[in-house]
Amino acid sequence: EKLPHSLLSGSWRTRGEDSEPTFPCAAVEVKNEPILGFKEGSAERAELLKALDGLKGTTEEIPCVVGDEHVWTKDVRYQLSVSHRMSAARGSSADIKSALINKAILASVAARKEWDLKPVQDRAQILFKAADVISGPKRAEILAKTMIGQGKTVVQAEIDAAAELIDFFRFNAKHAVELEKTQPLDADGSTNTMLYRGLEGFVAAVAPFNFTAIGGNLAGTPALMGNVVLWKPSDTAMSASYAVYKVLRESGLPPNIVQFLPADGPVFGDAVTSSQHLAGINFTGSVPTFKRLWKQVAQNLDTYKNFPRLAGECGGKNFHFVHKSADVESVVKGTIRSAFEYGGQKCSACSRMYVADSVWPQIKQQLLAIHKNITVGDPVEDFSTFFSAVIDEKSFARNKRWLDLAKSSPNLKVIAGGNCDDSKGYFVEPTIIETTDPQEAIMHEEIFGPVLSVYVYPENKYKEVLHLIDNTSPYALTGAVFAQDQTVIDEAAKVLRNAAGNYYVNDKSTGSIVAQQPFGGARASGKSLL
Ligand SMILES: *[C@@H]1O[C@H](CO)[C@@H](O)[C@H](O)[C@H]1NC(C)=O
Ligand SMILES: *[C@@H]1O[C@H](CO)[C@@H](O)[C@H](O)[C@H]1NC(C)=O
Ligand SMILES: *[C@@H]1O[C@H](CO)[C@@H](O)[C@H](O)[C@H]1NC(C)=O
Repeated sequence: EKLPHSLLSGSWRTRGEDSEPTFPCAAVEVKNEPILGFKEGSAERAELLKALDGLKGTTEEIPCVVGDEHVWTKDVRYQLSVSHRMSAARGSSADIKSALINKAILASVAARKEWDLKPVQDRAQILFKAADVISGPKRAEILAKTMIGQGKTVVQAEIDAAAELIDFFRFNAKHAVELEKTQPLDADGSTNTMLYRGLEGFVAAVAPFNFTAIGGNLAGTPALMGNVVLWKPSDTAMSASYAVYKVLRESGLPPNIVQFLPADGPVFGDAVTSSQHLAGINFTGSVPTFKRLWKQVAQNLDTYKNFPRLAGECGGKNFHFVHKSADVESVVKGTIRSAFEYGGQKCSACSRMYVADSVWPQIKQQLLAIHKNITVGDPVEDFSTFFSAVIDEKSFARNKRWLDLAKSSPNLKVIAGGNCDDSKGYFVEPTIIETTDPQEAIMHEEIFGPVLSVYVYPENKYKEVLHLIDNTSPYALTGAVFAQDQTVIDEAAKVLRNAAGNYYVNDKSTGSIVAQQPFGGARASGKSLL
């Protein structure tokens, strides 16, 4: 099936493209983007090295894009390379004021009608194109910016800024087109039509630092569905986010559909929640920030034309439950990766583990052996680094507080790591802590760093421990159960039914893949879809 020619006509034409599109939108087959290996001598490695080299010692200037103008404010904010604390980008953000945000709102709302009337295939076309561009010519640049700015290793950057982002764009575009085909029944000579229209007003997309893909998705997906969006990228992901924004524009996203606003969080929150046009907030970040936004919306409820839709994904305190029948090797490998990849700065990272006493000595010995081999360093200089520094000074201070507490508390014992050093970058050692009390704060509060806490239980008490896991933390994002015994697996699934959105059996608690494991949680973790 070819796209009807008219879909790319007029001012909505994909920039620089005069010919018909080469890929069909309807009935398109979409597969997960292959993850590249970056092996010594490979073409992708050479391109990435070139992109990294090109960014060395440079500072990128990033504007706010308001009403399709590049706006440079007087105060600037710097995004640093986390492992060197040298500037990677300089954003015109710090004093972006509510007046500017209001201008962006009005420009969006004015552009909305025409955008929403576009056939969904047109809008989908833009995301398909953007995905192709990220998969091809822009891959290296976006990866390099994610590595330098957000401190990711090659692999972590690749699964996020390339594979996941491309998957989000392609699968969402495909689903959007297919959704239109879902229509109500016709009866007795009547024809019934369901129109899928964007929200009347604008959507505020508030993105976190830890996934380049999330920023693109939070802003891109509402736009795909006919919404206009104000995108507030994270200060600590400005450079990669701006690169993604530019790809969207170059792939045909018209002006004013997405405004790029690297603003101060509270200033942005205050401005969007006091606008009568607020139609939705699409958020990923901390619980306190999401609650603040929700309360502001409640307070201003009489202001709005619509009831704003609020969707937030707010972190977790993800568990690994290890039964005595578990396969030790998969527990050890899965736990190391889940707890320490990207320095534990994923919402799905394992941060509390419950292990049967009969298997603990073996697991502990193997965890400690692998722990010795974990290299923490600069992933740009050394591709074999397992993880890098944590994202910023605030995060470093928070991790340090937990490490200090662990060293001084009688219930806690640091069995590996435990140190941190911010002389060059914000480095925190991968740390494993044993606790004798499963109710310690370290077992229920989110740390968001490379810190794993372990509670060892008497093997015959595993049922109580399942209930303990369910009741210990306010979060319910991800969790994993390791057991070979099928009755235990069945039992755990019942007890932990509400304790996680993404629930894994004999697999680590991280690593969901677009279209294979839909992602989201409950309780204080919020939900990621609306
Ligand atoms: C929020 O973003 C997600 C993608 O992360 C999308 O599926 C959802 O429709 C968006 N919701 C709103 C209200 O914009
Ligand atoms: C990303 O980081 C934020 C904190 O900035 C956290 O709340 C969120 O859960 C994380 N999301 C993912 C998908 O890792
Ligand atoms: C640690 O690294 C050494 C040297 O590369 C290797 O021989 C050993 O098998 C590794 N240990 C573990 C537990 O991975």
